[in-house]
Amino acid sequence: MPGTDRLTLRRPDDWHLHLRDGALLRAVLPATLKRFGRAVVMPNLRPPVTGLAEAAGYRDRILALVPSDIRFQPLMTCYAADDTDPDQVETGWRDGLFAAVKLYPAHATTNSDRGVTDPARIRGLLERLQRLGMPLLVHGEVTDPGIDVFDREAVFLDRVLAPMLADFPALRVVLEHVTTADAVAFVRAHAADGRLGATITVHHLLLNRNALFAGGLRPHAWCLPVLKRERHRLALVDAATSGEPWFFLGTDSAPHPVTAKESARGCAGIFTAPAALELYAEVFDRAGALDRLEAFASLNGPRFYRLPVNRDTVTLERGRWRMAETVGGVVPFRAGADIEWRLVP
Ligand code: DOR
Ligand code: ZN
Repeated sequence: MPGTDRLTLRRPDDWHLHLRDGALLRAVLPATLKRFGRAVVMPNLRPPVTGLAEAAGYRDRILALVPSDIRFQPLMTCYAADDTDPDQVETGWRDGLFAAVKLYPAHATTNSDRGVTDPARIRGLLERLQRLGMPLLVHGEVTDPGIDVFDREAVFLDRVLAPMLADFPALRVVLEHVTTADAVAFVRAHAADGRLGATITVHHLLLNRNALFAGGLRPHAWCLPVLKRERHRLALVDAATSGEPWFFLGTDSAPHPVTAKESARGCAGIFTAPAALELYAEVFDRAGALDRLEAFASLNGPRFYRLPVNRDTVTLERGRWRMAETVGGVVPFRAGADIEWRLVP
């Protein structure tokens, strides 16, 4: 397999995706439809997707844009707020509307101002999720302004996640977009019984924090959690390519209009969807681990979420192509530069 030029895998899924709404949704969705069979759709719209009617409406707006010859399933998430009603979450879960609940610590990132101010306030919700076996998806960063922004994930593990996992021993958690060696070690230490998983983005696998300052301030490399040192990137590559079942693909592709990125207070988010799978192939190829891409991209996620793997396949081949400068008014990752792998139509 190393040295291979062509690779067929079960169709992958994206276990962490921002699709937005309206015209932006219409512009960005096709990139995901081309590559992924399912996507866990983040609820941080404005206003956030907190209720059953909002989630069903959003799901239907997504599905209305899926051509009839494409099978795609958006897996909807419920935005947790301090006052989220556990009964409503349970109804959404039982009806197959909600696949998971998303926990944003209030003010941690884009549109998180209605997030959870203190996990102690959602104990009832966490108890219910634990009882249902319904996954809690966690943006794992503290928001304490006294903590250095590069340390916010590591501090979250100690201060918030470790106590939460201890208090709710059967709660099923996905630590989203892990960015540090600390998080990789934490997941390995807690994952063996299958109750903790982690997604890894392709931008955190490809870039370290130098990319933020390469020849000038680079708004298109700005995301949350922020890029980290090279040693952390290497730990992420090791985790993703390890084949360990608790690590799986989640792009966190997060489109913002170019004007919102190239601004004095640019929004966090990197739009990787237009080459997401090809970029992961690049990472795995460089690591000599193309034979593990299918586990990471197509098998481990369904296993954690207790869903079947997709029945169809996708094929990638080695071959250079040039990413567009913009896609629907959004600057994609690698804009105007080369991608090393391509999808075979
Ligand atoms: O970079 C990010 N962008 N990180 C997040 O947590 C949210 C996301 C967004 O919605 O733009
Ligand atoms: Zn995200």
